[in-house]
Amino acid sequence: MDDVQESATSLTADAERLLHELVAPEGRANPYPVYAKLREVAPVFLTGDAAYLTRYDDCQAIIRNPSLGAQSPAWMDVVRPGWRDHPGLRVTHESFVFRDPPDHTRLRRHVSSDFSQSKVRKWHGYIAAATADVIDQIASAGADGGTVDLHEVLATTLPIKVIGKILGVPESDFPALRVPLEGLRLAADGSPADKLPVIDKAGEDLLSYFADLVALRRRQPEGDLVTSLAKVRDTGGGAGQPDDAVLSEEELLQTLTLIFSAAIESMADLLLNGAAALIDFPAQAAALRADPGLTTGAVEEALRYDAPVQAVGRIARGDCEVGGVAIPDGTYLLGFIGAGNRDPERFPEPDVFDITREGPAPLSLSGGAHFCLGAALARLEAAVFFPALAGRFPRLAYAAAPVRRGFALRGFASFPVTVR
Ligand code: HEM
Repeated sequence: MDDVQESATSLTADAERLLHELVAPEGRANPYPVYAKLREVAPVFLTGDAAYLTRYDDCQAIIRNPSLGAQSPAWMDVVRPGWRDHPGLRVTHESFVFRDPPDHTRLRRHVSSDFSQSKVRKWHGYIAAATADVIDQIASAGADGGTVDLHEVLATTLPIKVIGKILGVPESDFPALRVPLEGLRLAADGSPADKLPVIDKAGEDLLSYFADLVALRRRQPEGDLVTSLAKVRDTGGGAGQPDDAVLSEEELLQTLTLIFSAAIESMADLLLNGAAALIDFPAQAAALRADPGLTTGAVEEALRYDAPVQAVGRIARGDCEVGGVAIPDGTYLLGFIGAGNRDPERFPEPDVFDITREGPAPLSLSGGAHFCLGAALARLEAAVFFPALAGRFPRLAYAAAPVRRGFALRGFASFPVTVR
């Protein structure tokens, strides 16, 4: 073996080792130092039928490239035969986040105007009131100097309340929906076989929940999204009768389940990841308190610094090239957007949380055709929450070490704080 081959082999071995470190407990707790090493060793690491990307530009290139595919049902048929027997995998991979055009375009079009910037703005008052309630709840829970688990508070209040209002999910149903939401979250980390029973039950429970709610809204219509989307289904998009080519009954329920789950888990993660950054960088919290005009910067920096969604996948449809590396047809491209957000080429001192930072947009809400449908709503919820938290609790501190959870969806399982 000559020198070139030898160094290529050791590079590959290093990169493989780093990939394993990423999913090990220490890497899950803090993936950023591992990303930094992987970016140095092999920024585009092609191994087997997958390629792993850790540079900003390469991640951006794949999320914006329309010729790359999603992890679609057709792709799942190849890589995971038998997946259609699993309701949890079906509700995930048949929903439009994993569909390619024309289905993706058709399904997204039914809901895109409901989450436009101008439509979302009308929820500002509701979000402000819901946030004030949560902040009061935290204040009274911590009034005696005791510990408050922010994860517990946020998992049962703000994100679910906001999307519940938009969709028309009654608050009285929230507690029962928590278990399937947590179950479906497991699908984000690649739906490991041992978790499939939980994921399947979660998928079934959420689909049947929305089937019941749709039936109720057909009998008692309201001004909410469940009612309006059921109408699209029942009228074939205005043609007068149901038409599966416009929206099937199954797609109706999958779309509602996608929006509901996407709007809660990643949103709670952003609010907690941002709260952690404000505690870890107290001067930034003080700056935000002193100048609410820094709110937009705080939201963008929270999205960049510790992204709730750490990776986005695409499929090469034909041979292509990413970051100077030849990518064979069919390769699964995994863009570690959490790593791209810490690329020193694009963000000087990337490991510093700086709400006055200028620079490119974080990759955290993806881009291209699959740009996060809820981006405007997510930014609004965060823009109301962060200054409220920093403003009301200048002495916010950890009561004990917070417990991290998840990899592809990065958040906290518990977040104990004191507020006095
Ligand atoms: C901070 C919170 C959020 C983060 C970090 C986030 C992140 C993302 C990302 C990275 C994607 C793209 C996946 C891809 O490119 O394959 C995405 C898609 C999506 N998000 Fe969000 N999201 C958030 C909040 C929301 C909210 C509040 C909603 C509510 C409507 C939502 C609904 C969706 C939907 C429906 C898609 C699929 C879009 C498509 O494939 O066309 N998300 N989100």
